[in-house]
Amino acid sequence: MHRVKRLGVLTGGGDAPGLNAVIRAVVKSAANAGIECIGLEDSFDGLIEPGHSRVLTPRDVTGILRLGGTILGTTNRGNPFAYPGDGHDSGVQDYSDRVIQMFHQMALGALIVIGGDGTLAIAHEFWRKGIPIVGVPKTIDNDIVGTTSCFGFDTAVQFATDAIDRLHTTAEAHRRILVVEVMGRYAGWIALYAGVAGGADAILIPEIPFDIKLVGERLRERDKYGAKFSIVVVAEGAYPKGGKLSLIESAHAGHVERLGGIGAQVCEALARETGKETRTVVLGHLQRGGAPTSFDRVLATRFGGKAVELVQKGEFGRMVANVPPDIVSRPIEEVVGKTKTVPLDLDLLLTGRALGVTFGD
Ligand code: F6P
Repeated sequence: MHRVKRLGVLTGGGDAPGLNAVIRAVVKSAANAGIECIGLEDSFDGLIEPGHSRVLTPRDVTGILRLGGTILGTTNRGNPFAYPGDGHDSGVQDYSDRVIQMFHQMALGALIVIGGDGTLAIAHEFWRKGIPIVGVPKTIDNDIVGTTSCFGFDTAVQFATDAIDRLHTTAEAHRRILVVEVMGRYAGWIALYAGVAGGADAILIPEIPFDIKLVGERLRERDKYGAKFSIVVVAEGAYPKGGKLSLIESAHAGHVERLGGIGAQVCEALARETGKETRTVVLGHLQRGGAPTSFDRVLATRFGGKAVELVQKGEFGRMVANVPPDIVSRPIEEVVGKTKTVPLDLDLLLTGRALGVTFGD
């Protein structure tokens, strides 16, 4: 087996708290194994644009464990196989050959790609083209298959829970319905976990198209026992039965569609259904900012360490994964193109139902 002397590491897609903790773990464990690390900046741009990379030593990653964001920068519109031009309709270009050429010119022996489903799909294409890849799954949405959890999710849920706690007091003071829109794309994990942790009365998720009349009825019932306010958590990907996803922007050359706006629609509809005063809050990118929780720091560190172990063993084309109590690895091809949604028989969902939370069905 050919021993790797230098590896490249990059972060792709939307940022998630814990990215820096992975980078730190990769750089430190690689250094201790005698492997040099090259940090590639702004996702695959680091292998497209000359001068978009730098050597990372343990000194460079000191103190970044607790920092949100990524010291390498990231982008979710830098797919080298379909690289977007400057304008809205300027088409895409294929820079994949340039990436492969640059990988060899830089004398890299392996590439650690830290990213979500989109970035891992790109990584898988490069693996098929002969680049020795190790994937590290990243997402606040918790929607990557093959891993029980991803760093970033716990931090996002903690932030959303804190926000719901604050909204409780003002909702109660004004006897209002407060509708909180959270992220998650096509999966309801953040809404479900933060909704249960924050004691929400209704949780609307993409996996269960909702009937707003049923939600309104349930909230009106709360009046009967004197609870004249309610908290409704809505996942950005939730939609009404027979209706469709709410989008801020549809997909176009090299750009994925952007979800959002369902919170405001639910807020308006609930005002009509219940006759109560309603307000809506969109938590947006606040869920991705700030310091990672201790859970996410630990998971990210374990992922980074495992990724370097795979490089040392020459086990490429694989993604590290959390299958408690272990960190394991699995072929990237098993996970790409799939979305881990909330199973309808998940115990947390059933527990919520048993407690009287409505899911709008
Ligand atoms: O995938 C993470 C995520 O934060 C989603 O929850 C959200 O829909 C999306 O990224 C937002 O992307 P952007 O940062 O491009 O607005």
